[in-house]
Amino acid sequence: MMNNLKGRDMLSLKDYTPEEIIQILDLADKLKKDAAGEYSSLLKGKTLGMIFQKPSTRTRVSFEVAAVQLGGYGLHLSASDLQLGRGETIDDTGKVLSRYLDGIMIRTFSQQDVADLAESADIPVINGLTDLLHPCQVLADLQTIREYKGKLAGVKLAYVGDGNNVCHSLMYGCARTGMHISVASPEGYLPDTDIVAEARETASQTGGSIALQTNPMVAVQDADVVVTDVWASMGQESEQNERFKIFAPYQVNMDLVKRASEECIFMHCLPAHRGEEISAEIIDGPNSVVFDEAENRLHAQKALLALLMG
Ligand code: CP
Ligand code: NVA
Repeated sequence: MMNNLKGRDMLSLKDYTPEEIIQILDLADKLKKDAAGEYSSLLKGKTLGMIFQKPSTRTRVSFEVAAVQLGGYGLHLSASDLQLGRGETIDDTGKVLSRYLDGIMIRTFSQQDVADLAESADIPVINGLTDLLHPCQVLADLQTIREYKGKLAGVKLAYVGDGNNVCHSLMYGCARTGMHISVASPEGYLPDTDIVAEARETASQTGGSIALQTNPMVAVQDADVVVTDVWASMGQESEQNERFKIFAPYQVNMDLVKRASEECIFMHCLPAHRGEEISAEIIDGPNSVVFDEAENRLHAQKALLALLMG
């Protein structure tokens, strides 16, 4: 297997070239069809440690299963059980874990903590979600979009809702792959301006584009893909009531998506709240691909582990 990614971290899709992202997606497609188990001992004897400071269903299970299916082992490390929870530094934790493990996946709050862990660890560190970014989700999203639309460049994606971690990584992913992303969020909840600027810079080189507005009707016009996410992310529970009032006009429902392309697919990283950010009619309807999207977390992450740790 040609591999120039061995030993790299995955902190953000920003750190990966368009060619490297496509390399991950191509391997993810291949692994999805790997009935013969060609890759089943690639990580033999290797262990991925998985640190969680926030809850998870998909990320935890798909990474653990990915490691096992590649012949390795996934070790779940709840942050509250680690000395990290009692004040041991990230620096010391990274140095110690590097003596036992072959890779670390971490889900936490601060992007800087993930960067600091990567700095102290001499094994690959993978961002399993921070308040700022969710790159592994977007690898699976890009794989799903390519499966349904046959390509990425030129595809129009509308993201409706909070300018959050998923939105930020989608902007990087779309910009890197020549897609057009149109984001609609309420005033005050638009994506981070530095990330918008960086994604725009990339999009100008790939033929993609980044549009921002507060009107969801404008964002979804002729979209090939409509994506949304929860209105209150993990850690924002205290803002829930206020956010629900502000985001109510941003629900992805039939009235909104009738403006999108007829073949439009609907995506959501899950967990979803039916009747809040998305209507049941849409998420459980014929154009929803949310469970393929969830499945692709496994394939995209297997590809990532194979390339970074194999
Ligand atoms: N989409 C996603 O990351 O799901 P979990 O929070 O269940 O891992
Ligand atoms: N934006 C959500 C994604 C969950 C997978 C959150 O951070 O809670």
